[in-house]
Amino acid sequence: MVSYPTRLKLAQTPTPLLPLTRLSAELGGPRLWVKRDDLTGAATSGNKVRKLEFLLAEAKAQGCDTVITSGGVQSNHCRAVAVLGAQLGFKVHLLLRSDIQPQPVGNLFLDKLVGATISHYSPSEFRDLDGLFHQWQEYYQNQDRKVYSIPTGGSNGTGAWGYIAVAEELSQDFAAAAIDPYAVVHATGSGGTQAGLLLGFHLHQIDCRVVSYAVCDDQAYFADKVADDLQQWQHKYAPDSDLSSLCPNTIDRYAGPAYGVASAEVFDTIKQVASMEGLILDPVYTGKAFHGLVEDIRKGVYAEQQDRDIVFLHTGGLFGLFAQQHQLNY
Ligand SMILES: Cc1ncc(COP(=O)(O)O)c(C=O)c1O
Repeated sequence: MVSYPTRLKLAQTPTPLLPLTRLSAELGGPRLWVKRDDLTGAATSGNKVRKLEFLLAEAKAQGCDTVITSGGVQSNHCRAVAVLGAQLGFKVHLLLRSDIQPQPVGNLFLDKLVGATISHYSPSEFRDLDGLFHQWQEYYQNQDRKVYSIPTGGSNGTGAWGYIAVAEELSQDFAAAAIDPYAVVHATGSGGTQAGLLLGFHLHQIDCRVVSYAVCDDQAYFADKVADDLQQWQHKYAPDSDLSSLCPNTIDRYAGPAYGVASAEVFDTIKQVASMEGLILDPVYTGKAFHGLVEDIRKGVYAEQQDRDIVFLHTGGLFGLFAQQHQLNY
């Protein structure tokens, strides 16, 4: 029995687990499924709200009234914090990495709509992110506000609980669908979803691999980042646990030219999946990861799992697609 820390009910759950029948038939196996965590909410959709159930509960418990967090200019995490902050009555300050004068579209549009305070920083200024957090923490403390800081992507020991809880939900989904999947496949960016799923399958004793397609950075980066999140979780919640068997499995072949930049092939996959299954992916996260999965199936990487089930975890990101819709020619 896993004992969860205090949690706010913010995500619409359980999200559906649905078969991708036509795509699976076209690829000729394995059988693909999608866990629809893009349906955890409307303006709060995606994987971030799962982590924020625990992070914002901690902020409340500590009596904080101000939340500072960070991310790319089209960060889904920052948008989720901004919207939830408005719903829960927190002041929200976003520190955004913006390399050009950003258009207020997609996630950034929603950040502004819900009244978040936004500071834009160039990539070189953003390198001292810790310094920026300190500067703003001090600024708000001097105004007698109590600050809760959330790292990029909501990925830390506390945020990991979000996907520990999803692992439990998935075990119920698997039982209801009468499947025993080979793996859950997902997009990895700041490593928290990966750390949470690894921990969740371990704690709930579910025999299923976690295969993580990187949307930026490389395998070595994720090995360190996930180990760090796991260590934070262990230190804070279960110092006597043994997590030595948990091993990140990151595939970095499809990360593309840079974070947020997708190849023409990724856009082709987004179009194909949209028209074949009515499933909308985004070019920053889910489109890159799903493209990687489909390419690997075509290359025979999953040939031994031909008769198994594989679950793609859809982590959201719809508003990021609107920010790049000009890349799709219609
Ligand atoms: C839509 C979407 N999918 C996947 C991810 C990756 O999740 P994580 O940051 O936990 O690795 C993110 C955020 O980074 C995201 O916004």
